[in-house]
Amino acid sequence: MPERIADAPWLFWLLEAVHRCQVGLLQLWHALGLSGEVDGQPAWPWAQRMAGERLLQDLGQARQLVWSLAAVAAVLVLVGVAVLWRRGRPWLLAGALLALVLAPWPERQVVLASAVPTSFHRNPLPFTDAAIVQGAALYQRQCLRCHGEAGNGQGPDAADQPVWPPSFSGPLLWRRAEGELLQAVRHGMQDAQGRTTMPGFAAQLSVPESWALLHFLRAQAAGQLLRATGSWAQPIALPDMPLRCHRPDKLQVRDWQGQRLRVVSSARVQDVAPDPRMVTLWLPQPGQDAAHLPDHVDCAVTSGATALQALGWINAGESVREVQLLADKAGWLRARNGRGTESWSDDDLLCRTTDAPAAARGQTEEDGLTRILRRMDAEPLGYVQGGRVHGGR
Ligand code: HEC
Repeated sequence: MPERIADAPWLFWLLEAVHRCQVGLLQLWHALGLSGEVDGQPAWPWAQRMAGERLLQDLGQARQLVWSLAAVAAVLVLVGVAVLWRRGRPWLLAGALLALVLAPWPERQVVLASAVPTSFHRNPLPFTDAAIVQGAALYQRQCLRCHGEAGNGQGPDAADQPVWPPSFSGPLLWRRAEGELLQAVRHGMQDAQGRTTMPGFAAQLSVPESWALLHFLRAQAAGQLLRATGSWAQPIALPDMPLRCHRPDKLQVRDWQGQRLRVVSSARVQDVAPDPRMVTLWLPQPGQDAAHLPDHVDCAVTSGATALQALGWINAGESVREVQLLADKAGWLRARNGRGTESWSDDDLLCRTTDAPAAARGQTEEDGLTRILRRMDAEPLGYVQGGRVHGGR
């Protein structure tokens, strides 16, 4: 299965095209007044949708789909010409018929998945430290009893459920469409017999609260993946956080998009060596004052305990004290140095697209940090969620 975009680039073009067509159709339907809104966004009016995520797992069917689409395009051209060119008409129409018959139509159950009105919804909340912390509090109140402290499905009530709650410390939250996760949280889940397997929370949670919960689930899952595998096996963004910077036009993390970022949470911020290759964000510890912004760091994070807590979830549930985090130009967290030193090793690159060890990539004289920065730039991240392609190519 091509987990990586580089493995089958044509497939990602296909997924993107399929996704865009569906979103276009949804917007058209909504604009024509044929479908309403649900949970604040246009509702998908059909019971099925194209299942891009399954095509990803079945390259053979994906190829068949491409050939079938090519056949449809050929039919349109042939019919178009037939309308204009009288004498060639019988041959052109016969050719069109032949293309339709010979097209290797893919299997319905592979190409189509059942859909809900929120299937194409996108999380409208920015991924911020505040949203993660808000989600964490809601999780403890509503979800922990089944899904467990670590989100691994080991809550105190888990054994009493008709099916065991799933573990979030796997690819689940990255594969399922965001809007379908929202549906599960708000309206619950049923098994094939229609029995409720997970209760819905639409009565207890507002729509924005439900979205904040999904942000938290992802931060928690990234941290648990880090704990279990030693890597951020699924991509996780550096949360947006409020900043105070020397440059007055920079007010939050996302204002630095396009730059490499380093988050430093050190008791001795004066010892952090400035590095012109990255923007340095200082994350003050309790008792440190963000108002005293040293000259050699670019910004201080001003949300205090909220930022520490949110990053703690992503950092395997552990404190980020004396930890340095690196985010790439697209905003994904890529590397962590938890040793409280200034020297980096290849193993600190925790989110990577290739597994080749540094030795196999040619010995270089470069230091560890330079190598990490080079790989961050050279290996952009991407993944497919609910058939939608996110990120790099
Ligand atoms: C009473 C127990 C219980 C509670 C409380 C509960 N869940 Fe679940 N949850 C389940 C079970 C069981 C499943 C698996 C259902 C299935 O696969 O049919 C599940 C599945 C899920 C899934 C996976 C959806 C998917 O597409 O596979 C998500 C996401 C989820 N729960 C989120 C939450 C959130 C967020 C909360 C708190 C608002 C919550 N759950 C509260 C029992 C619970």
